[in-house]
Amino acid sequence: MSTQTASPRPSGKLLGWLVFLGAALGVVMLGLLASSIFERRAERNISRVQMIQPIAEWEADNSKWGVNFPREFNSWEQTKQMNENTKYGGSKLKDYLADNPNLVVLFAGFGFGKDYNSPRGHYHSVTDVTSTKRVNEKTPATCWTCKSPDVPRLMAQKGVAQFYAGKFSDFKDEVKNPIGCVDCHDPKTMSLRISRPALKEAFERQGKDITKATHQEMRSLVCAQCHVSYYFKDKQTNQLIFPWDDGLNADDFDRYYERVGFSDWTHPISGVRVIKTRHPDYEIWMQGVHAFRGVSCADCHMPYRSEGGVKFTDHQIRSPLYNMANSCQVCHRWSEQDIKKRVEGIQDKNKEMLLQTERSLVLAHLTIGDAIKLGATDAELEAPRKMLRRAQMFWDYVASNNGMGFHAPQECARVLGKANNLAQECRLATEQLRTKYGAKSLYQMPDLSTKEKALAFVQPYIDAQKAKEAQQAPPAAPPAGQNAAPGGGMR
Ligand code: HEC
Ligand code: HEC
Ligand code: HEC
Ligand code: HEC
Repeated sequence: MSTQTASPRPSGKLLGWLVFLGAALGVVMLGLLASSIFERRAERNISRVQMIQPIAEWEADNSKWGVNFPREFNSWEQTKQMNENTKYGGSKLKDYLADNPNLVVLFAGFGFGKDYNSPRGHYHSVTDVTSTKRVNEKTPATCWTCKSPDVPRLMAQKGVAQFYAGKFSDFKDEVKNPIGCVDCHDPKTMSLRISRPALKEAFERQGKDITKATHQEMRSLVCAQCHVSYYFKDKQTNQLIFPWDDGLNADDFDRYYERVGFSDWTHPISGVRVIKTRHPDYEIWMQGVHAFRGVSCADCHMPYRSEGGVKFTDHQIRSPLYNMANSCQVCHRWSEQDIKKRVEGIQDKNKEMLLQTERSLVLAHLTIGDAIKLGATDAELEAPRKMLRRAQMFWDYVASNNGMGFHAPQECARVLGKANNLAQECRLATEQLRTKYGAKSLYQMPDLSTKEKALAFVQPYIDAQKAKEAQQAPPAAPPAGQNAAPGGGMR
């Protein structure tokens, strides 16, 4: 070691200190920035907002709110936009059945097998639910529940049970406004508010009080009024229920549905009593790293926007990939290109696992169908059918959720693994039956590569099921707990 370095010059020492202090200051500033990002969300005090015109208790007309809050209103109105789709999401309508003919077979005999489109912006909610082929004269009023701010108004006027027990067509002239302000806000204080009963009831059944939720939790819970899984209790009440009593993950749903014995319909090919799991967006988000770190739906889907120096919450709720600078990049210092690549990388893997699982499920339905033709009895098919019922519920928990796996990648992979495994076990058990009834080789999948081919394949089974039901007149009641409602709207 030379004497020169052993006795550093004073100027070198000063420089060292300056670098050290500079770095320390930098760390403090970064810390402040990071905490301000999190606190900004929490500190907002909406009660500061000024009302030019007071708003009525259940005001469903969004433009009346717009008088007071033009920025929020204008950005809300932009949910009507339909920009070019992202790889897996986006605001333009997509025909899921044409994109993926597996769904025609998996939902055969049920509304989703006839018509199943991607969600669009909130502005289109009423148009889309009134134009889907899934709605018919038997559709209950419950299908309106997640489509319009007129619903809380009608529930307040008529009573919740009376609303659910009505027909969809009863309220066609009443429900006009697309999802809007009163769905999420209290008109007096503008604070976030739960406007619908099903979420409150689900909390109560779990022994939790939703009015105790924190402000940051409310920034996701307002979405959880609609972006959740649900079913209709029975054909008499058509009460909307969230299957949350045992918890929010797929195994909790499985336990719950096997206990209550619910099914949406009986599959015309396999005779499986199927559950149509609806979009568990909130439930799956809860199991991802963002929820774990307190990042809410609104943080990504409603980031802050600036206009003329005024900062406000962007009400153009849409795919964050249209707006990475304001959403992801507030927290992640990656380039837009990297962010997009990462999201699509997760979604590609999810898609691959979905397709593998769907192939197993379709094959299992058709193999059971063939075993029935060969002579297998209901008693023999009971166990395989149950495996397939559960497999399809697990698969749909992931398939129907929006975001294509992004909200909780590992959980989606785990659940699809489970679904695939159950479907294969079902097929194995059914192949043994086919062998018993004389089959010489394994069942071979027919060509179902387009929507048209798939529709043509399932139609004779649907006709045969209808003919059988008609023979059993007076119309046989569906098995206990089954509900024939087609289900509507955002998947
Ligand atoms: C960390 C950010 C983040 C959070 C938090 C988040 N999302 Fe997402 N969400 C995304 C991304 C990224 C996509 C994928 C968009 C795409 O593929 O275009 C997405 C997709 C969606 C979609 C489908 C959008 C489309 O265009 O098809 C819906 C609906 C959705 N999320 C709802 C929710 C709800 C409800 C919550 C809270 C329970 C939530 N998200 C929380 C980032 C987030
Ligand atoms: C009152 C029910 C309701 C509430 C509350 C609600 N949504 Fe939606 N959301 C829907 C429905 C229904 C659709 C599909 C509309 C359509 O396709 O016509 C949808 C669509 C979406 C889409 C797809 C938009 C696109 O451009 O493709 C996103 C993203 C989304 N919602 C996120 C959220 C977030 C985040 C929240 C909470 C801040 C929320 N939603 C609250 C019912 C609701
Ligand atoms: C899907 C739920 C949802 C809908 C629909 C909705 N908002 Fe909001 N709104 C929010 C959330 C979340 C925030 C952020 C609240 C917070 O963090 O304090 C917010 C904030 C606001 C604020 C506070 C100021 C700001 O910009 O942060 C105003 C004012 C407001 N919204 C007005 C409206 C109006 C007007 C409509 C109808 C045109 C509307 N909102 C529709 C969820 C919604
Ligand atoms: C409010 C802050 C915040 C926002 C906004 C946000 N994230 Fe994150 N993100 C986090 C945190 C916190 C983590 C956890 C990792 C950590 O602690 O470093 C994380 C983790 C991730 C991961 C790693 C996931 C994993 O399972 O390991 C990805 C990928 C990601 N974010 C993508 C996004 C994308 C895409 C967006 C925008 C749509 C986004 N994030 C928006 C805070 C945020």
